[in-house]
Amino acid sequence: MSPARGAAIAEVGSRLSTSAGGGALKPERATQDGRVRVYAGDCRQILAGLDEARKHKVDLVFADPPFNWSRAYDRWETTGAKQADVAKVRSDGAKYDTWDDSIPREDYITFTHQWIKGCVDALRPGGSLWINIPDDTAAEIVVYVKNTLKIPLINWCIWHYRFGQNRASAFINSKVHALHFVKPGGTPTWNPERVLEPSDRATTYFDPRTLSKKDGMPAGMRLPMDVWYGQYWGRVQGNNKERRPGHDNQLPEAYLERVILACSNENDLVLDPFLGSGTTGAVAHAYKRRFIGCEFSRANLLSAFQRISEIGMVGKGKALGQSTAIFKARAASDAAIARTRDSIGAASTPTAEAVAGEPPKKKRGRPRKS
Ligand SMILES: C[S@@+](CC[C@H](N)C(=O)[O-])C[C@H]1O[C@@H](n2cnc3c(N)ncnc32)[C@H](O)[C@@H]1O
Repeated sequence: MSPARGAAIAEVGSRLSTSAGGGALKPERATQDGRVRVYAGDCRQILAGLDEARKHKVDLVFADPPFNWSRAYDRWETTGAKQADVAKVRSDGAKYDTWDDSIPREDYITFTHQWIKGCVDALRPGGSLWINIPDDTAAEIVVYVKNTLKIPLINWCIWHYRFGQNRASAFINSKVHALHFVKPGGTPTWNPERVLEPSDRATTYFDPRTLSKKDGMPAGMRLPMDVWYGQYWGRVQGNNKERRPGHDNQLPEAYLERVILACSNENDLVLDPFLGSGTTGAVAHAYKRRFIGCEFSRANLLSAFQRISEIGMVGKGKALGQSTAIFKARAASDAAIARTRDSIGAASTPTAEAVAGEPPKKKRGRPRKS
């Protein structure tokens, strides 16, 4: 470990408690109504000084931290951003501070513990903490949050994407972990009805049992499974409409849409300690949540604020209600298909053909059971 880096981690650690007594922090940017505020700097220090955090007023934290994979997190100006946008950010006097994304492992774990502790403190009792983290640190985080902070794990979801980086030395990585914890002591916000999808029984097997569900879900619908994928769930790359140039770590809107709708209500306070391109803020703002973001790179912060306040979500609602069935629709009678389609409002959800990529074969007789 370089002594300078080690000292920086330790120094911030020791300042975390002392800065908690200071005055109100000033956001770097805020919307006029104050519902979106973004702060420049190290989230550990910002969290320690933020009024809402000190008073445990945050309803939902979504954190997608640096992975310590030697990434340059603020190449925003050099990787294809529109020159007009670059000029705008530059005219704001942006400094291109870069977070050091290759610190020694031990320091990275210390850093991870510190920001997680700050986020948990900021949450209200019953508030949700979601962490997006790859294989190499997921287990450590789960052990720390469960065993040291005594916060229960509610869901260990997987965001599965295609086009992981090719390699021959091991199976190709195609996932990140989406960990959901809820701070004990209060009522969690959980809105399953906002994120339902058609069940495979409805789209693929035409199984009439899905029409009279006993779990309280509407006919033909279910909660998504804990592996998340689908049409709008790919990595945000190339000419993807959501793409913010220069941010190669951008999460898809669909991911944040699911988390924010399921775990917060309108006017709730959502916090993202690692703003990046601003995906969490764009989705939270679009769904009328209040939002606080922190970002180390001022250039990233300005780009994210521009996205949140001027551009917003580009695919609001598009991923909702989509089937994630992976098998072709089975043969069924026209009547059975019509019945299940009617029951799930097929006009607004993809049909079995769309899911399967071809029309189901028409056959006489009863629908087959799955
Ligand atoms: C993985 S990216 C977040 C991407 C984001 N979820 C999105 O969809 O665009 C992590 C971001 O955290 C920022 N960052 C790194 N360390 C930080 C710290 N200590 N405090 C605040 N921001 C930090 C990096 O500059 C980078 O923009």
